[in-house]
Formats: sequence, structure tokens, C-alpha cells
Amino acid sequence: MSEITAAQIYHHAGHVTPADRRALLKQTGATLWFTGLSGSGKSTLAVALEQALIARGHAAYVLDGDNVRFGLNASPKILMETRGYAEEPAKRFGLGFSAADRVENIRRIGEVTRLFADAGLLTLTSFVSPYRKDRDAVRALHTQNKGYAIPFIEVYVNTPIECCEQRDPKGLYKQAREAVVAGKAMGFTGVDDPYEPPLAPELTFDASKHPVEEGAALVLNYLIAKGLVG
Ligand code: ADX
Repeated sequence: MSEITAAQIYHHAGHVTPADRRALLKQTGATLWFTGLSGSGKSTLAVALEQALIARGHAAYVLDGDNVRFGLNASPKILMETRGYAEEPAKRFGLGFSAADRVENIRRIGEVTRLFADAGLLTLTSFVSPYRKDRDAVRALHTQNKGYAIPFIEVYVNTPIECCEQRDPKGLYKQAREAVVAGKAMGFTGVDDPYEPPLAPELTFDASKHPVEEGAALVLNYLIAKGLVG
């Protein structure tokens, strides 16, 4: 089959400018990328912030790791059970938790956040996103966006693993520890798969030390200080 090269695909610019969208929505579209261990409080913080932004009249939307793994980035099993896929395409498109699948999970969601933010939304993501290289690639996708840089704000939810493990809302740490003892690797982040903390996050929040309202205020004040929301 004859292959199409990148040079043969043209970026088609629309007539609506980022300034038009800013004027309409009275905010600058941006991505707020929450990263941290499972059980660190990323989703709790993201949904609290989303609610606070909406209450102030801003258009915000949370893309949550668990939710996205039911649809866009579903596993082969979920694709077969709930989307009617046959086994072969489900295996091809479905994602699990191998290192390669996590890279693809973050790559896809990085592209989606760039589009949401370009559309003018305050886009909040809650993914473990354990590998630094992948988060940095999403940052570059935003800052080197064709035509204009899209703000990318990395929020490191650095709740210590002891606290995440004590909370263990889904019982996954317990399961992962038991698997390790039984000599069966589960590849669980923080237990037998690495978490690479951000080197220069815009913001850091430890949910074991501060209530969620403080975290939401921290991010909201940052957005106001940067002039992204009024
Ligand atoms: S990521 O690593 O690819 O960014 P994502 O945020 O989508 O992960 O999903 C993480 C959620 O899936 C965790 O909060 C946890 O509940 C669940 N999970 C299931 N298996 C694993 C695993 N091996 N490592 C980490 N989280 C897992």
C-alpha cells in the first residue's frame, strides 16, 4: 500500500482565533495535569477544583484516569463487553497497565487535553502518569502547539505512599503487596513499578497534610495570578 507522509498532510487552520475563544468564554483554555500515586487524592482534588471553577462561571472539565479507561482507553475486555468489539480489534486498541500501554494511555490523553484546551476549556486530568518522559511529551505538545502555546500546569500530588497505601480505597496496594510476596509481579505503581516525580511542577500538593479545599484554592489562585481566569 502506498504510504502517505507527514509532509502530505496539511494543518487546516480555522477562522476562529484563540482570542475569539478567550473573549467568548472569558478564560484562557489550559491543561491542569494532576499526577501522583494511586490513592494520592488527585481525582478528589480535580473534581473539587472543577466544581469551584464552574461555581465561578468558568468552563472546566475533568478527564479522570479510571473513567477514560472505560471508554477511549478501555482494556480489551471492556471493549468486548461494553463496546461490542470482536477479540482481535479489542486486543489491538485496548490498553492495560504494561509500560507500553501506559505510554499510549498518556499519549492519547495528552492529545485529547490539547484539543480540549485549544477549544477554550480549563481541562483537568487525573492520571497516575508515572513516567516523566510521557508527561514532558504532553507538556511539549501544549507549549509547542502550532500557532500559539497552550498553558500546561503540572500539579504534583505528592501524598506519601504510606498514606496512599493506608487509604487504599480500591484494595489495590494490598493486592499488589500480596502478589509480590507470592512472586507474581503486578506492575503496580509505587510497589513494583516506578513513579518518577516531576522535577519542576508548577504546583505541589500533599493531601495527607492539607484538606482538599486548600488544594483547590492553591490551584485557583495560581490560575488567577497567571491571568488565565478573571
Ligand atoms: S496510568 O499509569 O496509565 O497513568 P491511570 O491513571 O490511567 O494509570 O489509572 C490508574 C488507576 O488504575 C489507579 O488509580 C488504580 O486504581 C488502577 N490500577 C490498576 N492497575 C494498576 C497498576 N498496575 N498500577 C497503577 N494503577 C493501577
